[in-house]
Amino acid sequence: MEDKISVLIPQEELEARIREMAAQISKDYEGESLHLVCILRGSIFFTCELAKYITVPVTIDFMSVSSYGDGTESSGRIKIMKDLDDPIKDKNVLVVEDIIDSGRTLSHLLSFLKVREPKSLKLCTLLDKPDRRVVDVDVDYVGKEIPDLFVVGYGLDYAQKYRNLPYIGVVEL
Ligand code: IMP
Ligand code: MG
Repeated sequence: MEDKISVLIPQEELEARIREMAAQISKDYEGESLHLVCILRGSIFFTCELAKYITVPVTIDFMSVSSYGDGTESSGRIKIMKDLDDPIKDKNVLVVEDIIDSGRTLSHLLSFLKVREPKSLKLCTLLDKPDRRVVDVDVDYVGKEIPDLFVVGYGLDYAQKYRNLPYIGVVEL
């Protein structure tokens, strides 16, 4: 059966905001190069769109961390499913996330990456659900704060579906 999905953030609004974020990031890293760490799979669309508008030299690597099963609740347990291909020592690392919910994924990930001694380590997320935070995380760039809703699209899934929607939508569960 098809799920009913309503639009929460239209594509134009989302992409305009991503261009603003890219402009801010380009300013903040002026004179430096930037190593984007895309957290698979949810962040792929955001990472691509963001990278296109960053004007400082960019490299990209990918990492996969498990936090959710096929439902909508955090398991609380996190596992590195795919590590980075390249070292990050002495690089300006910007972790690119799709959404921060409980904060467990990112706080775990940050301590994991910190020991590799990057030159700098910052966080960027397309969406943030601050009401759901369980673990405190310092986020440097937030696209948009949203209420406690389960969202899909622009990389985000519900049971692996709807990642390809060009907007952020809400599944009517
Ligand atoms: P956290 O560890 O609870 O912060 O979970 C973050 C991860 O859970 C995100 O990277 C997403 O993969 C997933 N997630 C959290 N909220 C949503 C949502 O509303 N829709 C789809 N995935 C979500
Ligand atoms: Mg994710």
